[in-house]
Amino acid sequence: MTTARRRIALLFAMEAEAAPLIETLGLRQDQEFGDPRLPFLHYRGEFAESLELLLSVNGKDPRFGVDNIGTEPATLNAYLTLRGFRPELCISAGTAGGFIRCGGALGDVYVSDRPFCFHDRRIPIPGFDQYGIGSYPSASYAGMARALGLKEGGVSTGNSLDFTERCLAGMERSGASVKEMEAAAIAWVAWCLKIPFLALKSITDLVDGEHPTEDEFLRNLRTASRLLREKTVEVLRYLATSPPA
Ligand code: ADE
Repeated sequence: MTTARRRIALLFAMEAEAAPLIETLGLRQDQEFGDPRLPFLHYRGEFAESLELLLSVNGKDPRFGVDNIGTEPATLNAYLTLRGFRPELCISAGTAGGFIRCGGALGDVYVSDRPFCFHDRRIPIPGFDQYGIGSYPSASYAGMARALGLKEGGVSTGNSLDFTERCLAGMERSGASVKEMEAAAIAWVAWCLKIPFLALKSITDLVDGEHPTEDEFLRNLRTASRLLREKTVEVLRYLATSPPA
């Protein structure tokens, strides 16, 4: 008897973040998936015969030759990927800033353990204030985090690599240990489509450290992406051998 494979979607913003995993898993590009007018890249594969994978990357901006980071491409690619693939779980994987005050260190890989918030959508009007913050659910994988030695924490999203004092205050209020640029946007799409969602984020820089974020990020992107690959493979192995949620 053959059992249906469980579908897992992996969403990445940057090619450098996704490339090690694509290579290790031997994923193949699917040029038919999605919309040829959009810059997104989609890769398919299997894992341990029980998981069917679709890995989507946001591709490049043709004008500037850089990766399509931030919330707009993340939202659009999430919708395209989740609508077309209908996974049982969606994972936003990538790099992020960590916080020394939360015990974060370079190379840590975090799994989300609380709702995803935005730290740069400030709308001081009743109702809209909460809407701006977002607070979209994270699937609960505490057992997996413990089993794999992953740190757990809140993930906060904004469209800047730097931050203002108000952004920092927002991150503290939401209990974030991780600062990045896509997860809450994808969390909104997953919440709308009722697809369980979590984030796996590898730390390239320390937000409350002494080095300029852009220097630290660029210096550590390759190493953090390799560590992310290792942990993502372990997560897939865990999912392949555990019963469906
Ligand atoms: N990605 C990696 N580091 C980041 C940071 N400090 N802020 C936002 N996105 C990031």
